Amino acid sequence: MVNEFEIKKQICDIGKRIYNRNMVAANDGNISVKLSDDEFLCTPTGVSKGFMTPEYICKVNAKGEVIQANPGFRPSSEIKMHMRVYQKRPDVGAVVHAHPVYATSFAIAGIPLTQPIMPEAVIALGCVPIAEYGTPSTNEIPDRLEKYLPYFDAVLLESHGALTWSVDLLAAYLKMESVEFYAQLLYQSKMLGGPKEFDKETVQRLYEIRRQMGLPGKHPANLCQNKDGLNCHNCGGSCGKEESKGADADLVASITKKVMEQLGLK
Ligand code: 13P
Repeated sequence: MVNEFEIKKQICDIGKRIYNRNMVAANDGNISVKLSDDEFLCTPTGVSKGFMTPEYICKVNAKGEVIQANPGFRPSSEIKMHMRVYQKRPDVGAVVHAHPVYATSFAIAGIPLTQPIMPEAVIALGCVPIAEYGTPSTNEIPDRLEKYLPYFDAVLLESHGALTWSVDLLAAYLKMESVEFYAQLLYQSKMLGGPKEFDKETVQRLYEIRRQMGLPGKHPANLCQNKDGLNCHNCGGSCGKEESKGADADLVASITKKVMEQLGLK
């Protein structure tokens, strides 16, 4: 049986963490937790997520409509974005949205986190694409996010911030930490002349470690998102874009060779 009050306290604790770790400024960011298929707890709109107490937390249904909220509190303005994650990913138990400085800088620059540069980032995250810009609080963000949901557990929101989700709140929060740490390393290594990327074989060995660990969630070690043309680093999967690019290139080369021969140019 889920202890709702304990979960509310946990949401407040995680709110403090994202605030104290500079992952949000002022009243930014939002957090939600799934209680059942039609009951979710979420942070209220327009308050600092670093100073919440359990009575701040609102309860909504699967449509994001209020089930319970104390006077003066309304659910997050981004509740539609959270609900779309739960709708498309029944395995998800919690969602965290923040504006961490490095990850958000990549989101603003339009650079996805797809370079394989260190083992933990490859194993934990795979890669982090950018969902195209949408106006906050509207359906534009969930609509643009949707295509990434079957393949990823973290995305950057273009010119806005980052969004992570996982089986429970701690895991969703830790994913946000990993995204920010990876973004910071990538930024700093770019300042030092550019990161040295792992080759495809090294990435495959790390994917194998992830498979053996049996970690939950969506990751290129278990899926091949390149088949839909989505961003990913060095995907070695059999359905990979890289491979089909290779196959196309081979076909073009063989046709060119034949044409050249027929024209007597070779
Ligand atoms: P809320 O306070 O409404 O959750 O909004 C904060 C935010 O960061 C919007 O992107």
